[in-house]
Amino acid sequence: MDEKITGLKAQLEADLAKIETAADLENIRVAYLGKKGSITDLMKGMKDLSNDERKALGQKVNELKTEVSDTITAKMEELKRKELEAEINAMPEFDVALPVNMDRGSYHPITLVQRQCESIFRTMGFTIEDYSEIVTDYECFEALNIPKHHPARDMQDTYYLENGQLLKSHTSAAQNAIYKKYKDALINEGKPIKAIFPGRCFRNEATDACHENTFFQMEGVMVDKDISISNLIFFMKTMLSEVFRKDIKVRLRPGFFPFVEPGFELDISCLICGGDGCPSCKHSGWLELCPCGMIHPEVLKAGGIDPEEYTGFAFGLGLTRLAMMKYGVKDIRDLNSGSLKVLSQFTDDE
Ligand code: DAH
Repeated sequence: MDEKITGLKAQLEADLAKIETAADLENIRVAYLGKKGSITDLMKGMKDLSNDERKALGQKVNELKTEVSDTITAKMEELKRKELEAEINAMPEFDVALPVNMDRGSYHPITLVQRQCESIFRTMGFTIEDYSEIVTDYECFEALNIPKHHPARDMQDTYYLENGQLLKSHTSAAQNAIYKKYKDALINEGKPIKAIFPGRCFRNEATDACHENTFFQMEGVMVDKDISISNLIFFMKTMLSEVFRKDIKVRLRPGFFPFVEPGFELDISCLICGGDGCPSCKHSGWLELCPCGMIHPEVLKAGGIDPEEYTGFAFGLGLTRLAMMKYGVKDIRDLNSGSLKVLSQFTDDE
């Protein structure tokens, strides 16, 4: 029996020396350790042996099994290492001392203006909030004083999911959650709510030079005791003069939004045509940049805030519009085009 074992080991060594691939090795494993393999065969003769002999042989065969299996595993590792080396050798040589390719990507113009606005508002004590793109009907409409069948919903047709949720048609959809998040600190500690929340919005739009089905807004709210329209005007003016780094003409006219009362449209003079009229401003010379207003009492109530005690303002800045104004982009569709020829021209001028 010992001879058989020694013979098997020698045979295995010879077999292993010949193989080149992992598949060959697998064949060897089956030939030795498989159901009909040589080692399994050895065990078959054991039934005719005495107890003691069987025990002694069993031990030897088990040792042999372990040894063969270890040898095969080691061989497998060696094969893999060789394969990897071959792969590395086949790679083209490269010089690690060569300078790296400095052609870095650039930020999207909307990202640039968003970051700029964020930093301006951060210095004025606003927190920056993130909010999901999929929201409920309650968040997007009901909590904003837009009940079902309200005509204001017509302007905000969006994309609905089968479960009744929808892609948010405006960043105002985050208002309710923000009020609920900060109301305790407002009521118990007297900390004003000052938050901005930039985000991607969606609408079922016919696209043209100034409409897209996907665009960006940045909502802002401030709630405290005695907040008035002058606070709103102050923050808007400060922000816009920082963004454009110059005095731009603005106008405030009444606007209707169910979630503010009174509501306004803040327009800026079109920076593309200088106010003469062009497709980007629908030939009016003005660009509707930032609707805003005093938060409607019902909206505060829905957020758990007593409108008898607190007031606030809200605005919905069109970040996409702002980027177009700031960088002179004439067609909104360029911004979603993914065209590097267009998008790589913009740089952060901070
Ligand atoms: N959510 C509105 C829209 O997208 C914009 C808006 C208007 C936001 C007035 C506001 C606001 O916060 O006060 O049409």
